[in-house]
Amino acid sequence: MLAGFCHTRAASASDASAPFPFPRAAAILAGMAGESRQAGFVGRAVELRRLDLALERAGQGSPQVVLVAGDAGVGKTRLLLALADRARRRGMRVLSGGCVELGDIGLPYLPVVDALRELADDPEEARLLAGAALTAPGLGRLLPGIEPAEAAGDDLDQLQVLDALRAVLVGLSERSPVVLVLEDLHWADRATRDLVAFLARTLRSGRVTLAVSYRSDELHRRHPLRPLLAELVRLAAVERLELAPFTRAEVAEHLEAIAGGPLPADQVEAIHARSEGNPFYAEQLLAAGAGDAHVELPATLAEVLLARVQGLSEPARQVLRVAAVAGRRVPHRLLAGVAGRPEADLEQGLREAVGAGVLTSDAATGSYTFRHALLQEAVYGDLLPGERVRLHAAYARLLAAEPGGAAAELAHHCLASHDLVGALAASVRAASEAEAVLAPAEALRHLQRALALWERVAEPATVAGIDRVELTLRAAAAASAAGEQQRAASLAGDAARTAGDPAQAARAYERLGRYLFDAGRIEEALDARAKAVELAPAQPPSRLRARVTAAIAQALVNARRRDDARRWCDEALAAARAAGSAADEADVLSTLGMIEQYDDPANARTLFAAARAEAAGAGDLEVELRALYNHAEVGRSMGDLASAGASFDDGAELAERNGLDWSRFGIFTRRGQLAVRYLTGDWDECERLLAAVPELVTTLAAAQVVAQGLGVLVARARPAAPVRLRQLAGLAGADPFLDRDVAVWEAELAGWQGDLDRARSAIRRGLAAADAVGHFDQVLEGAWVAMNGLSVEADRAGQARAAGDAATLADATAAGRALLERVRADAERAPRAGLAHDVHVRGRRAKAEAEWTRLQGRSDPARWQAAVEAFSYGNVYAVARCQWRLAEALAVAGDRDQATAAARAAHATATRLEAAPLQSALEALARRGRLDLGVGRAAQRTPAGLTPRELEVLRLLVEGRSNRQIAEQLFISAKTASVHVTNLLAKLGVHSRLEAAAMARRLGLEQPAGLER
Ligand SMILES: Nc1ncnc2c1ncn2[C@@H]1O[C@H](COP(=O)(O)OP(=O)(O)O)[C@@H](O)[C@H]1O
Ligand SMILES: [Mg+2]
Repeated sequence: MLAGFCHTRAASASDASAPFPFPRAAAILAGMAGESRQAGFVGRAVELRRLDLALERAGQGSPQVVLVAGDAGVGKTRLLLALADRARRRGMRVLSGGCVELGDIGLPYLPVVDALRELADDPEEARLLAGAALTAPGLGRLLPGIEPAEAAGDDLDQLQVLDALRAVLVGLSERSPVVLVLEDLHWADRATRDLVAFLARTLRSGRVTLAVSYRSDELHRRHPLRPLLAELVRLAAVERLELAPFTRAEVAEHLEAIAGGPLPADQVEAIHARSEGNPFYAEQLLAAGAGDAHVELPATLAEVLLARVQGLSEPARQVLRVAAVAGRRVPHRLLAGVAGRPEADLEQGLREAVGAGVLTSDAATGSYTFRHALLQEAVYGDLLPGERVRLHAAYARLLAAEPGGAAAELAHHCLASHDLVGALAASVRAASEAEAVLAPAEALRHLQRALALWERVAEPATVAGIDRVELTLRAAAAASAAGEQQRAASLAGDAARTAGDPAQAARAYERLGRYLFDAGRIEEALDARAKAVELAPAQPPSRLRARVTAAIAQALVNARRRDDARRWCDEALAAARAAGSAADEADVLSTLGMIEQYDDPANARTLFAAARAEAAGAGDLEVELRALYNHAEVGRSMGDLASAGASFDDGAELAERNGLDWSRFGIFTRRGQLAVRYLTGDWDECERLLAAVPELVTTLAAAQVVAQGLGVLVARARPAAPVRLRQLAGLAGADPFLDRDVAVWEAELAGWQGDLDRARSAIRRGLAAADAVGHFDQVLEGAWVAMNGLSVEADRAGQARAAGDAATLADATAAGRALLERVRADAERAPRAGLAHDVHVRGRRAKAEAEWTRLQGRSDPARWQAAVEAFSYGNVYAVARCQWRLAEALAVAGDRDQATAAARAAHATATRLEAAPLQSALEALARRGRLDLGVGRAAQRTPAGLTPRELEVLRLLVEGRSNRQIAEQLFISAKTASVHVTNLLAKLGVHSRLEAAAMARRLGLEQPAGLER
């Protein structure tokens, strides 16, 4: 596998131009395929039953994780093959890949790429892959057949790749259930382990089974797989199978199946005792002649295996030695190149090795594989040191001549052949290759190896093409991207201490400051940035000086020392201007904007606008994006929706132009576009933007965009709303912001449908998600959830009061009070987060206070009026909803004129927005309160978009009539009645008659027609 993956790709790329230099290889490969027979399956009944159940559950849409553990040779692969068989018989799709014997050599996603290789052959699957690659450019570089999307900027991260892979699996599983088998995880690279952890944690929907195997005898105390396994076994949907050795009877059955007949009892006994029930060992003992009195068998398994190899001819042994150095799988061209033998010899050796069951051939990849890893290990272990070095060197020579994609293997072979110079150069290249597929942990490990080789090579900087301090800083950046902030800090600290000149040291300290800050070591971060300032002379003015002073200013902002920060910003600004660096100037202006935002948001906005113009002029995309986003956000926060909307539009356009559609920035600006349009009531445009998000591939990135637009679908009672909600609920746990949004929309939908229990549990989830965000500036996010929660509790209190249910009333009151406290506390905290001026904070507070009076049964028109005003900056739907409650409160208070005015205004807005549930609610209020909405009867007669006939059907349905009874009552056929029922369920967005009845009651649709006027 090791050599297999890259070289099959390299080979197929060059096949078209150059003739394959081994005319007989294809014949050898094809001729040998399928020659290794497999005897019947033995035992494992309990395991198979558990696997069947897992497949069953997965087939029903509940994703499964299966762990198969056991010693080498005990039967993990065989069991997984049986699983694959059973899965295929159920019509499932099986994808499998394996890790390599040589261990983690730092090739990211090796088994995953292997498993997904065949997908690109099917056009529809290729489309799915391409769709996923759209939201995760790193994925395109990993998989064959996809044009890698070109993207600028570095705010793409590994999570996107993991998430896109998850989306591919879930997307595939919509066609048929998918089983992903990853073998020998104890040898996996970090990126693959990350993927397994990610899938286990985040797969919530989709007919997907992830089955992995690992050798339990390999897992020493500090093995990197251990923490992952510890986490996995705690998850509910994980099935862990520890394979036991065969019993004596099972060994007998196994051996007899191979031998093709009964064996003497003492031979079976001897083999069972020697092999301790390990089927692979038992097979090998049988092949080596165990039990035959004339054959003296060596003591250990390795020796038994070698004894078998020794029995082969010299050409076969030579082939095996060469193959063993490559790893488990070796492509024909590489094997032939390293063996350096006449083709006839090679062919004879290969045929013999395959015939003896030591190698197997795979015509599809043009490669050979050891039947079992233990065979490869035994042959490799038996090589003489000199021979081993010579063969590794030969591989290194061949690989060095191959174009791209193989640096990690090259480094491995160089190291093993003591070629430190080659290893250093290859390690630096391997790091670049890992960075390109967004696998920072792999990059870090190559860079650390390069650093370790540094002292042992002459002229290392020339070999590596980079100096040691820069290499260390690059390693620090990789560590930071891999989430290892402490390691990043210690690497950057090392770079700072060993820097060649003050300028380099200043840069290193500046980086150190950032990593320390990310590691939560705020004071040390400030010290590091102060050192950077000390090292960069103020005169003559330089870009460096501008940069380090800007950096300390930013650190001070983060430490909430705004006055000190402002002073440094002034200096940084002067330095940037004197040095003529517009990009640095723009960066400082943005930082100044962040400071001003607290006390003078209008000024902050001016600064962000200036920063943006400056950055655009200097062509600094990253700074421009930051300034633009901040500009939009501060506008939104001030309630200047027109300006905010324009900025978000600009940002989205800029992102798209630079291939950053699905970068964090691209997602944020798109969310901003949707958020502003939701507020201003430009809902058709929201739906248009939403329609552009691919539905097939629900990556987290796409989900974050969809979640922002969902409010429109819910408010319009679109049938797509519950569908999208269900899709998004499948991602629960992956991102707290997403969970919070989904919870609030779910609560609103359930509220309109009259299902208050569902609404309450959604609110509970939303609050938990908001708590999970935790970041200081985000504490306010919970207030939005709490405000919506208050509406639910107020509804509940109203129902309890009407039903005389004192216990529920008390409970709703207590819950409401807690929610109100939360909204109030968050509003008090707003100034500390620089949001003293925030219109949304004010609106939420005002509405929560109004809902609280409604909850207590004395809905206060003054409070509702205040809420209407608080939302009047342009949040049209919130205004209309508050006007509805205002009208209701006024009607109760007997102020019919004012009530009518409020209801009319709200109804007009709801009609314009096509907010059907709100519209119906207002019409119901008008009927109950005898308010004249000022619209013709025609409009009033079709609440919730129902025809008069459907309305009649609904009213009978509410009374609990069956279709037959409805038909009789209305003088129509039962079939027609059932069509009416189906249509009205769809229009109400509900799934059952019970829900429809609850909804009808809630919307006031159930009164007999006579009472309508
Ligand atoms: N349940 C079984 N029935 C028949 N043969 C088995 C069974 N389990 C293992 N074997 C055989 O034993 C050998 C080693 O099994 P394998 O699955 O490759 O072990 P592992 O993957 O655990 O190292 C193979 O030749 C395999 O066919
Ligand atoms: Mg195996």
